[in-house]
Amino acid sequence: MPNQSVLILDDSLQQAELVSDILSQAGYRTTALSNPLQAMEELKGSFFHLVLTDLSMPEISGMEVLREAKQISPETAVIIMTAYGTIENAVEAIKIGASDYLTKPFSTDQLLITVDRVLKSQQVVMENRLLKERLEVSGKDEFELVGNHASMLKIKELIHRVAQDSKTPVLITGESGTGKELAARAIHRLSVRKENPFIAVNCAALPVGLLESELFGHEKGAFTGANTRRLGRFMLADSGTLFLDEIGEMDISMQSKLLRVLQEGEFMMVGGTRPQRVDVRVISATNRNLLQEIRAGRFREDLYYRLNVIPVVMPLLRDRVSDILPLVEHFRQQYWRRHGRMAPMLTPEAQEVLQNYNFPGNVRELFNVLERGSLLAHGPQIEAEDLGLVCTPAVSNAPVSLREASEEAERQALADALERHHWNQRSTSSALGISERTLRYRLQRYNLRKPRS
Ligand SMILES: Nc1ncnc2c1ncn2[C@@H]1O[C@H](COP(=O)(O)OP(=O)(O)OP(=O)(O)O)[C@@H](O)[C@H]1O
Ligand SMILES: [Mg+2]
Repeated sequence: MPNQSVLILDDSLQQAELVSDILSQAGYRTTALSNPLQAMEELKGSFFHLVLTDLSMPEISGMEVLREAKQISPETAVIIMTAYGTIENAVEAIKIGASDYLTKPFSTDQLLITVDRVLKSQQVVMENRLLKERLEVSGKDEFELVGNHASMLKIKELIHRVAQDSKTPVLITGESGTGKELAARAIHRLSVRKENPFIAVNCAALPVGLLESELFGHEKGAFTGANTRRLGRFMLADSGTLFLDEIGEMDISMQSKLLRVLQEGEFMMVGGTRPQRVDVRVISATNRNLLQEIRAGRFREDLYYRLNVIPVVMPLLRDRVSDILPLVEHFRQQYWRRHGRMAPMLTPEAQEVLQNYNFPGNVRELFNVLERGSLLAHGPQIEAEDLGLVCTPAVSNAPVSLREASEEAERQALADALERHHWNQRSTSSALGISERTLRYRLQRYNLRKPRS
């Protein structure tokens, strides 16, 4: 695995440098030291994926270094290097948290294999922590961007180009459910960072204080309840991609802190005293119009330009009607994996209804409509009624622009859904496949109010 950071400690600097040279030639970022105190300082200052330490050193033993390292940074893996004949010590070291040991003298191959194995399992541990939070069923085509409409082909082409470069920040905008997160994952998966973590943070989900420690981590004792040092998402995303979702919701004071990382490539942990360096590509996404937010004083203009080096604008589903049926087919095929049975087919009428529907919740709404339809279908096929969509009648005489027509359709769809759900915003929004916030925003925009009865 390329680009991971390794600290090598041996009281013979020559020996440390020898190991360091081998590892750096294999693509790791290495630091070689002979002084244990200096090594601990390093560990406090920046995150290392791995520490390789000699066991017997004058003054401070490798065992103490191990204990200290685990204390400072529990996520850091430690490999002990020990002389032949001191195997009991190595066993002891494993008990207190070392991942593995190497008996001196060791060959280049033994070194590389052990380091690789330890780092791989360490990555699994780190990823598991994040995976737990994700409900998504895994599977390859889960991340495929489906659609051959010209607007979608353009997006795919852009994503490929963006992925060639691994540093430039990307800002993905588009309405709710248009596939912003999917696009972000696609960029990561096509880039050289693909073997390294993709870490997503929803900036709207946490209050400011928590978001800061979530992003930057905190030192032990930084605040009440901070019983251990905890790494932030920026650190976990080191050498990978950090996806800042709903960036438009980020508090203005956090925006300044984020700007600093983007400008200087370093940040402070909460309660920390030393700046931490990371190598992270930032992809952010929002369904807000950030230029409007800037004008309203809610978003920093300088941050906007930092984030928006490459803009990716996701097309609306209603503007690419020809992609609707291919998406239906795509979701039908995935249905098997989610439910363990075949999804029903759609009748021609049901297909017609989908193609004429406005999809205020875009692809996510299409997905939800199909899940519901598959559940409600009585026969072997999904009928138009099973979709639960009210199709707006073709607008009659008045010569309206496409925009007006589609807004009217959206307004109507919202009104119908609200009616069906007795104006309960939570169930209406989930039926439409949009967030409650988006729903409220639309209600305002279309001036929709619960009728007094
Ligand atoms: N082009 C596409 N092909 C296949 N699936 C898609 C496509 N676009 C979106 N999806 C699916 O639709 C759902 C919504 O996509 P995603 O979460 O990426 O949207 P989003 O723009 O981030 O939405 P929100 O603003 O609500 O967070 C996901 O299940 C995603 O897999
Ligand atoms: Mg999203």
